[in-house]
Parts: sequence; structure tokens; C-alpha cells
Amino acid sequence: MNPAARINPSILAAEVGHLYDACRRVEDAGADEVHIDIMDGNFVPNVSFSPSVVEMARKAVKIPLNVHLMMLHPDQYVDPFCDAGADTLLVHIEADHDAAETLTRIRDRGVRAGIVLNPATPLESISPVAHLCDEVLFMTVNPGFGGQSFIPDPLPRMAELRKRAPDLAIAVDGGLNRETCLRCWEHGANVFDVGSSLFKPEDMATEIAWYRGRMR
Ligand code: DX5
Ligand code: ZN
Repeated sequence: MNPAARINPSILAAEVGHLYDACRRVEDAGADEVHIDIMDGNFVPNVSFSPSVVEMARKAVKIPLNVHLMMLHPDQYVDPFCDAGADTLLVHIEADHDAAETLTRIRDRGVRAGIVLNPATPLESISPVAHLCDEVLFMTVNPGFGGQSFIPDPLPRMAELRKRAPDLAIAVDGGLNRETCLRCWEHGANVFDVGSSLFKPEDMATEIAWYRGRMR
């Protein structure tokens, strides 16, 4: 049995001119957290939000902010994103940093720490830092853009990690919709960072309620 499902809409899929309203919409729809994607143009070939967007989200909503750093040097940005109001800070194992040190610094700030694996990254790569993680996020697309197709390769890794860690927050991000979310849930994931497929429908609340009904 997985821990309770958490639905975290990703505001990367929102209209950039209406980000404040998008955060309000996410909270009003009954989501658990707001997922905020930070891209630096180096680790991924796209640039998205700065700490000021996290600050804006902090003012817009009361629910936790789940901040995903797609950055080559995430260690240099721990303090700015913690200061901006992140409740969870997720950093990639493939980035250029001492992951153990970065995760420890995040926790020292009183913020939940998470490690992220790209679709091709083996589970063993996080073994040395697993004890420092409050959340492990499996990417099911190559990070950088919303609206890509789901890559199933990490499914067996999720299932393996769930076996090892029954209470861990196991998250998944990329190409999620009703069908792929359920597949991930069946493989042990319980945190769902969902972009396009939650922002497209008129009624996000009904969509989130559908997920809650299926994943318990
Ligand atoms: C991808 C981002 C995702 C993205 C997901 O690089 O990390 O959080 O917003 O978007 P969809 O659900 O559209 O794949
Ligand atoms: Zn993300």
C-alpha cells in the first residue's frame, strides 16, 4: 500500500501572464502542493522561473510549494529558493554538485529535501544520498519542457524503491495523465507532478477528485 496520493499541479503549464491566478486556481481545486519548475538554460535547454516566482506563489497560496531545480549548480541556489518560501526543494543527482552536501544544506534550512533522477539514471546512483531525502522524484520525460510523452523506463525503479522504502514520498513528473498516473501509482509512486493534463480541462477540481477516487 502506498502512502496517500498527493496531486501537485505544475504551473509551467499555466499562462505566464496569469501565474498568480494559476496558483490560486491550483489551491482552489484542492491540490496538495504547487509544483514549480526552475530551469537554468544549462542543465536543461530551457529557462523558466526565478526565485521571485516562488515568492509570488508564497503570497498567492497557503498550500506547500514543491520546487524542482533543473539547474547545473543547484547548490548555489539553496538559500535564494529557501528564502523565497520553498517547502520542498528537489535537486538532480545528475547535476554538478556534491548532492549529499546540497541535501544536507536544504534540510538545515528546515526545508524538505528531494533528489531527482532522469529517465535513464539507475536507481543505485542515489544510494549514497537516500538517507538524506524526504522525497525521491522520478522523471518520466527528459526534463526541460512541458507537454512531452511519458517514458515508462523508470516504472520498475519506482516499484523497487517502494519495496525498500514503504513510507517514502515517491514522486513522478512528466507526461502524466489519468492513464500514466495510475500506472505509476501501481508501481509505488504517490506524488504526482502534473502539468498540461491538469491545466487543459476547464474544471481542475473535478480532475483532481478523479485522481483521488482512483488512488487509495
Ligand atoms: C518537465 C517539468 C515538469 C512539467 C510537466 O521538465 O519538470 O514538471 O511541467 O509537464 P507535463 O505534465 O505537461 O509533462
Ligand atoms: Zn518538474
